Amino acid sequence: MRLVSFDNVSLAICYDDISNYSDFLAKQNVLIDTWFFDGFSPAKNPDMWSACLFKNCFKLTAHGGRFATFTAAGFVRRHLINAGFTVQKRKGFGLKREMLVGYK
Ligand SMILES: C[S@@+](CC[C@H](N)C(=O)[O-])C[C@H]1O[C@@H](n2cnc3c(N)ncnc32)[C@H](O)[C@@H]1O
Repeated sequence: MRLVSFDNVSLAICYDDISNYSDFLAKQNVLIDTWFFDGFSPAKNPDMWSACLFKNCFKLTAHGGRFATFTAAGFVRRHLINAGFTVQKRKGFGLKREMLVGYK
């Protein structure tokens, strides 16, 4: 993990396979304000969109914290809802018809 700080913002940059991130996230003692889920196509790269990952992300989300993702795939939406997020479909951008946003 690499920590970068500028002004009053700290950025933790982690490089690893997502299968290791899930365990890593479960051990963290921080609260995240905003997630951006951007792990390539859910149909082609399901490991980046697993139920376990979203559960761990939800646990680390501050009350009122938000997420956004370019995808509106049904299984991703269900995993996010099951993890505890309130999920909304929005008009997408670029070539995407719909996208998901949500909050805790
Ligand atoms: C669409 S790109 C994200 C781009 C990034 N949001 C940006 O704006 O620069 C998808 C990212 O998912 C990462 N990725 C895909 N499969 C992964 C995996 N199994 N473990 C960790 N990272 C993975 C890729 O390395 C890539 O950086």
